[in-house]
Amino acid sequence: MTHRIGYLIGSLAQDSINRILAKALVGLAPPSLELVEIPIRDLPLYNRDDELDPVAAVTEFKRAIEGSEGLLLVSPEYNRSIPGALKNAIDWGSRPWGHNSFARKPTGIIGASTGAIGTAVMQSSMRSVLSFLNAPQLNAPEAYITFDPEVFGADGEVKDAGTREFLQHYMNEYAAFVERVLSLTAPGHV
Ligand code: FNR
Repeated sequence: MTHRIGYLIGSLAQDSINRILAKALVGLAPPSLELVEIPIRDLPLYNRDDELDPVAAVTEFKRAIEGSEGLLLVSPEYNRSIPGALKNAIDWGSRPWGHNSFARKPTGIIGASTGAIGTAVMQSSMRSVLSFLNAPQLNAPEAYITFDPEVFGADGEVKDAGTREFLQHYMNEYAAFVERVLSLTAPGHV
């Protein structure tokens, strides 16, 4: 059975290394996952005044999150935290109160950085946000990627065998996690 997984890229940059990482992950994912990008670029800044009558970009974003069986967050770390554009998207998706689109979505968090700690602090912040939003997360393996342009080709090819195997393992574990969470939340499960 194929599961539709929405992926969010935390960077708006044209030449984002996280977009390149996302391409690599799409290429290495097992056939049980259908990965579809959920864009965040056109979302306005979150404003509570607009919660009950938001622009179409917000409605479409929430619909895309809700229509996904799982979510993959591929993001840089900005100033030891979550990039503002991605946090803004999550804030929209979490509202209005009682309509949190992230609830129960099996989520994977991964990111690439030019720095040595490979987005570890962003991921830690993200876990606390997603826990509050009741989104179960893949705990292991963790994936902190220090981006090496010699390893990642622009179209998602991964030239180093060890990195390729690790990312493939990550996606296989994420797929197994999605299966586990979906089986626990299936109708009729007590
Ligand atoms: C960064 N960068 C960065 N890297 C890191 O490892 N930890 C950090 O806290 C930060 N902080 C940070 C803040 C801001 C505002 C920028 C623009 C950059 C560097 C970052 O890893 C690098 O720019 C990546 O290329 C960003 O990912 P994308 O946009 O290429 O996907």
